[in-house]
Amino acid sequence: MAMDNLITGDIRNIEHLFHLPNFEFYHHDVSKYIHVPGELDYILHFASLPAQLTTSKFRSRP
Ligand SMILES: NC(=O)c1ccc[n+]([C@@H]2O[C@H](COP(=O)([O-])OP(=O)(O)OC[C@H]3O[C@@H](n4cnc5c(N)ncnc54)[C@H](O)[C@@H]3O)[C@@H](O)[C@H]2O)c1
Repeated sequence: MAMDNLITGDIRNIEHLFHLPNFEFYHHDVSKYIHVPGELDYILHFASLPAQLTTSKFRSRP
């Protein structure tokens, strides 16, 4: 399962995974609540913005 809000990511980078029967993609902001059915063994959290973007147009707070 992969989760990304595609703010800087590109769906084309994972297109090759969509045919896999056990692969699911959630277009979702990881900072927002989401219910994921079933059990998760691990969460590998790599969602982040490049530092220069956190101080410019993607910044959520002044
Ligand atoms: N690439 C490297 O060589 C490297 C080395 C060391 C550490 N890291 C760390 O690994 C992490 C990921 O790096 P990367 O190179 O894959 O970055 P990346 O920018 O390629 O990927 C980050 C992804 O996070 C997504 N994203 C951002 N905010 C999100 C949110 N709120 N909800 C859902 N998705 C969100 C973006 O759309 C993007 O697809 C970063 O924390 C980076 O500092 C990367």
